[in-house]
Amino acid sequence: MSRIVVTGCIPEVALEKLRAEHDVDAWTGPESISRGELLTRVAGADAVVSLLTERIDAELLDTAGPQLEAVANVAVGYDNIDVPACTDRGVIATNTPGVLTEATADITFGLILSATRRLSEGERLIRSGQDWKWGMFFLLGSGLQGKTLGIIGMGSIGKATARRAKAFGMRIVYQSRSTIASEVVAELGARRVELDELLATSDIVSLHCPYGPATHHLIGAEQLTAMKNSAYLINTARGPIINEAALVAALQEGHIAGAGLDVFENEPNVHFGLLELDNVVLVPHLGSATIETRTAMALLAADNALAVLSKQRPLTPIG
Ligand code: DGY
Repeated sequence: MSRIVVTGCIPEVALEKLRAEHDVDAWTGPESISRGELLTRVAGADAVVSLLTERIDAELLDTAGPQLEAVANVAVGYDNIDVPACTDRGVIATNTPGVLTEATADITFGLILSATRRLSEGERLIRSGQDWKWGMFFLLGSGLQGKTLGIIGMGSIGKATARRAKAFGMRIVYQSRSTIASEVVAELGARRVELDELLATSDIVSLHCPYGPATHHLIGAEQLTAMKNSAYLINTARGPIINEAALVAALQEGHIAGAGLDVFENEPNVHFGLLELDNVVLVPHLGSATIETRTAMALLAADNALAVLSKQRPLTPIG
């Protein structure tokens, strides 16, 4: 029997799966586990099932010890894991791609609709108790049909977002590091463009790329200025892809029309400037937050950890 440390609350069905084969030490506190507590618990662990709120770095891996075999992240993003440090120590790192694709594309579209049709603004107005009545020019937003969606990062979530955009009658342009199969591009009617063209021509720019040194502040003052004044920026990927201070300035100065954000540069802190703006929709990292999706993510992470511990290839290794 091996020892598995789970760094936060995950659905019971996944814990049961782990407990059926191994000794499981799961953090169940109402707050995230503290760094000190995490380091104490991982000492001697054979596998760690981690949440994106915990940093899995060289210090943690060394504290765990040389018997550590697996780090199974319950997230598709793995910027919380030092993957080279895992590889150097022979630790297999895994993530949960695929199972959260549709939920994240759904929330992307929720943000697009909320930002362009001013849903949050309207709800705030009603809840504030202000007088209002229907009016020809009251809270007018922008329609989506015939508009252009620019997708940065055409992985599975980017493609799922593009499929939704197509159903809304939008044109799609995209930028991607990898080659996208021609039949997928044809099905979506999508056109690959350089970032400059994407920023200059899109009515909505949606971020779906992974976060890392190459995408840190990919969207800053220069890129925001290059966007149309009528355009919206949507982020369901990772906060630091956007320079948040530059975004606040662009929204204040009218360089872009609005934004919809599910993730933040210094999460869970949100730039105070964003809080004061009406033309930005803010939600607290809910991209994968459905019962079905979180269950599937936890089960996939559990299966990955169990596979490594039984000397099999995990389903979704990183890299
Ligand atoms: C992920 O999986 O990377 C999401 O951000 C968490 O839902």
